[in-house]
Amino acid sequence: MEIYLDNSATTRPLGEVIQFMGWVQHTAYGNPSSAHALGLEAEKLLQEARSSVSLALGCRSDEIIFTSGGTEANNLAIKGAAYRNRRRGNHIITTVIEHPSVLNCCRKLEQEGFIVDYLPVDGEGYVNLERLKQMLTGNTILVSIIHVNNEIGTVQPLEIIGSIIKDRNPGTLFHVDGVQSLAKVPLAPDRWQADLFSCSAHKIHGPKGTGALMMRRKALLHPLFEGGDQEKGLRPGTENVTGIAGFGMAARLAMEKMHTGKNLMYDLKEMLLKGLRGAGLEVGVNGPPPKLSAPHLLNLRFPGVKGEVLLRVLEQHGIYTSAGSACHSRHPKPSYVLQGIGASTEDAASSLRFSFSGFNTFEEIQTVITRTVTAVKELRQSPV
Ligand SMILES: Cc1ncc(COP(=O)(O)O)c(C=O)c1O
Repeated sequence: MEIYLDNSATTRPLGEVIQFMGWVQHTAYGNPSSAHALGLEAEKLLQEARSSVSLALGCRSDEIIFTSGGTEANNLAIKGAAYRNRRRGNHIITTVIEHPSVLNCCRKLEQEGFIVDYLPVDGEGYVNLERLKQMLTGNTILVSIIHVNNEIGTVQPLEIIGSIIKDRNPGTLFHVDGVQSLAKVPLAPDRWQADLFSCSAHKIHGPKGTGALMMRRKALLHPLFEGGDQEKGLRPGTENVTGIAGFGMAARLAMEKMHTGKNLMYDLKEMLLKGLRGAGLEVGVNGPPPKLSAPHLLNLRFPGVKGEVLLRVLEQHGIYTSAGSACHSRHPKPSYVLQGIGASTEDAASSLRFSFSGFNTFEEIQTVITRTVTAVKELRQSPV
């Protein structure tokens, strides 16, 4: 038995997607830049995927740049914007609860002379809007905000954030890291006045190693690699046609199922929390109340129990969870996201992230409740 509740780290690719990718690999193996029929067929697959991904994002298909994933999309957006716009200013704003692919880009840029301000968040992970207003100056070239936080599921009010940025300075680029929000919560880059939006295929039952950056035409970026003119010269190199085609199909299927999947995930979250509390366990929620956070995320605190130890016990029963973001979970340190929302080191270390997909079932959650209750009670009696 395997109960997979680590869908924020990655999702299981859909059978249809794997099959389609196999067909592309075997049959449509041309280079999209070639002038012959095989090349045109590959180019057509790219166009179809571009169209599906743009529909899922709510933008135009010529605004999609395919990348090797969310990390590369974030790097291209942040470093690309910084290098291209450095003559206009050197100030960047982001938050303290970003994914490492954003935070480490910002740290790199700081070493190169850019000035980065890190917005604090409140106890539920919402960015401090007053501080954002104070931080923005005529020198601010970029604001980068995570849409759905990957550890606690906070959904930022992007429409308000976008209007604060653009009212202060229409030329400041607004980048959204949407890796955890694609096909989970409604996207409206137009309303948010977002110029750049990053996403990734493997979080929506697509393949690993494929992602995209939405880039508005007026958002000028510097490429990270030198090469040919693929992806408008911003992401040179022969396109990963197989991965991109799989991403397109995964995006289309995810959008078709988004509504039912979302309702199911909210029900599963509620069942899990109610079930644990109903069994008398003391459990805290990290982040916003479950109904207000993204449907797929629930970060729980089990006082007196180490998250990592609980993770291992549950794993022995085939239940897969996470004690932090996947990028850090092999080197356990107290989560900076949990610390960012004010959790003590002890609280952060006693937390576990459950992340759902539309393929989880109520039966699975019942098993998770039973196993977790037993494990937590035992661990509290004999702490490790
Ligand atoms: C919020 C967020 N941004 C970026 C990434 C990186 O995406 P990828 O794994 O496609 O590089 C992740 C992955 O977990 C994420 O959760």
